[in-house]
Amino acid sequence: MLPYLLPSLLGLLLYTLGANTSAIQHVSRQTCQSTGTHCPPGTLIVGSNSKKASHKTLQSAINSLPHDASPQTILILEGVYTEQVNVTRAGPITILGQTSNSKDATKNRVTITWKAGNRDSTGNFDNVYSSVMVVAPTLESSLTGSGTTGWPVPEDTPFGNRDFRVYNVDFVNTWADYSDGPAHALSLSRANGGFYYCGFYSYQDTIYIGKLGNAYFYSSIIAGQTDFLYGFGTAWIQSSAIQLRGCGGGITAWKGTNTTTPNKYGVYIVDSDVRAANSSIAPDIKGKCALGRPWNSQHRSIFARSYEDGSIKPQGYVDWIVSGVPRYERGVTLMAEYRVYGPGVNETARIEGGVTDVLGPREWEKFSTPQKVFGDTRWVDWSAVQGRN
Ligand SMILES: *[C@@H]1O[C@H](CO)[C@@H](O)[C@H](O)[C@H]1NC(C)=O
Ligand SMILES: *[C@@H]1O[C@H](CO)[C@@H](O)[C@H](O)[C@H]1NC(C)=O
Ligand SMILES: *[C@@H]1O[C@H](CO)[C@@H](O)[C@H](O)[C@H]1NC(C)=O
Ligand SMILES: *[C@@H]1O[C@H](CO)[C@@H](O)[C@H](O)[C@H]1NC(C)=O
Ligand SMILES: *[C@@H]1O[C@H](CO)[C@@H](O)[C@H](O)[C@H]1NC(C)=O
Repeated sequence: MLPYLLPSLLGLLLYTLGANTSAIQHVSRQTCQSTGTHCPPGTLIVGSNSKKASHKTLQSAINSLPHDASPQTILILEGVYTEQVNVTRAGPITILGQTSNSKDATKNRVTITWKAGNRDSTGNFDNVYSSVMVVAPTLESSLTGSGTTGWPVPEDTPFGNRDFRVYNVDFVNTWADYSDGPAHALSLSRANGGFYYCGFYSYQDTIYIGKLGNAYFYSSIIAGQTDFLYGFGTAWIQSSAIQLRGCGGGITAWKGTNTTTPNKYGVYIVDSDVRAANSSIAPDIKGKCALGRPWNSQHRSIFARSYEDGSIKPQGYVDWIVSGVPRYERGVTLMAEYRVYGPGVNETARIEGGVTDVLGPREWEKFSTPQKVFGDTRWVDWSAVQGRN
């Protein structure tokens, strides 16, 4: 009997699979990005003038997503999109930029751009309104606020996006071509976001990771001049390029607060390259760029196993003194380096400066992996990081 049954079982199996081809469709990020095929089922396409596109702007595609926990993918066709993007959805979202070089951020062909900055010093206009993209569940959770503890976000605010991923997209704030007030390329709070082969370009406060924000950057480019990595949350920047477009404040300006969960908030720049944005600016900024300054005394930032070019100030980090009160507090503030190398490293001057900690392996150990600083990292695309996709 068996020989007769087998073919019909096989037939049933093939029929079941064939009935919905997406169930057996091979999904490939790189093929989707280069040809628009092999994308996850239901992928929305954004394009400013393509028949294939169902949306003309990224915001319109995001607004059309269901308010549920289903994972959704958006493919953005090559082009420059002038818009501000605001993501409040909690369900997973993957955004892919069209490219045939999906492992090279210098060849990105999708740009989201906006021109806005914040020159207001009265506290009435928040930095968030300058951002090219905001990822946060509510307006309040995304406000920087003022003072050393920032905007008091209501405790019952829900968490926002748990798994937000972007590949090969540049975010460019064109407010000014020098520091002229906060001008975000990205603002992410109360959400988990992974950015792979992306670019973030501005001058001041390029990236803000707000309260309960967790952001992982891989093989990306982050360009700025003043305090351009700042916030209250946690950011891990892996194998990326930090481009100095001038010097002001510091590269990092972090605040720690007691409103964050007990994760290891701070910014970790690992296996990365810190150098002048180009050879014309390099001589102007030689020895002038501080690694960071404490926005409040609980600042935490570590440059680890990274290259530092001659733009870096010999003292490394600097203190931030406001009305005569230094914010640096020994034993509280952590402004550190671990096994950095290159012409920007001067150990004598670091010691003389008195605020830069040079960590040994044992001190680095407790921060040494994204798992240690974030806790849960299921929202990180480890296959991209390991070069498998
Ligand atoms: C196939 O399955 C996917 C995922 O469940 C669904 O979104 C899609 O509508 C289905 N397609 C057809 C033709 O039934
Ligand atoms: C983002 O969208 C939410 C929901 O519509 C809105 O409440 C919030 O004000 C927006 N954020 C910004 C910065 O515009
Ligand atoms: C070099 O970088 C600076 C700072 O961003 C910019 O103003 C200048 O135009 C750049 N020069 C070249 C040749 O790209
Ligand atoms: C955080 O809590 C500690 C211990 O209670 C306190 O010393 C510190 O001032 C608080 N810091 C902020 C920024 O609220
Ligand atoms: C390192 O810093 C010390 C102290 O500030 C200075 O005397 C020395 O010239 C610096 N070395 C280099 C190579 O710049």
